[in-house]
Amino acid sequence: SSPSNAGLEERFRLAQVVAKEAGDLALHYFNERDKLVIETKRDPQDVVSIADREVEELIRSRFADAFSGDGVLGEEYGLQGGTSGFTWVVDPIDGTSPFVNGMPNWCVSIGLLYAGSPVVGVIYAPCFGETYAAMAGAGASLNGKPLRLAADKTIRNAVTGIGANSHVTPAFVAKMVESLLEAGGNFIRNGSGALMLAYVAAGRLVGYYEPYMHAWDCLAGYCLVKEAGGWYHPFPTEGERLTKGSPVIAGGPGAHDDLMRIAGVDATTAQHA
Ligand code: IPD
Ligand code: CA
Ligand code: CA
Ligand code: CA
Repeated sequence: SSPSNAGLEERFRLAQVVAKEAGDLALHYFNERDKLVIETKRDPQDVVSIADREVEELIRSRFADAFSGDGVLGEEYGLQGGTSGFTWVVDPIDGTSPFVNGMPNWCVSIGLLYAGSPVVGVIYAPCFGETYAAMAGAGASLNGKPLRLAADKTIRNAVTGIGANSHVTPAFVAKMVESLLEAGGNFIRNGSGALMLAYVAAGRLVGYYEPYMHAWDCLAGYCLVKEAGGWYHPFPTEGERLTKGSPVIAGGPGAHDDLMRIAGVDATTAQHA
């Protein structure tokens, strides 16, 4: 089954409006961040503040007003099931650590799932004035300009984004960096996995690999990468799995074999554009 184009396009338009409003609210908190109380979640590096919660509340209320039958999964408030077949997958602020530490690498990430696949991806990075937007079958854009990945980039002649959190052991992280360097690659980590996936869609990075992230970190970015001509390793979205972590791997055509080998994941399962 496929979503009616009318329903999908309406949601795509709304996602862009809501991402902008949400990002501007986050930016207000960012500019006043000396007043924020920083709390921790899983470990001292895993931070959160009222900004994350208020931005997610705003996004949820906008979607509930417009499409009350849609499900919503968000990092701060979890999964609320729906009846329409559409589920919004929201990270109100991806890059909370850069956010609270005064760095610009953070974004609002809004994805939309239909029949198990991301069909919309909108990522707004207020400090850079950048809005990345993609809808299944309609391509990806940055501030309205179409994005198309370069086919000639490989992990050897371009830069790969990586990330890790405390779900992953230090030894595993060391090993993944070692394999990437041994393959002739180099890495960047900016503290926002969602924004780095948008950079893959923009051709700034040739790929992204993080061993354990959640649906709200990657689904919007996956839609962007695929619509820009790249591929991603499918994220499990069925039932309970949607709220659990999994490896996140995506890139341009020339990075596929190397990245999948470095990640040690079955290379036959990538979703190509
Ligand atoms: C985190 C960022 C970070 C990644 C972590 C994520 P958050 O999301 O995307 O780059 O390495 O795994 O949890 O907590 O800032 O939304
Ligand atoms: Ca977080
Ligand atoms: Ca995140
Ligand atoms: Ca977040």
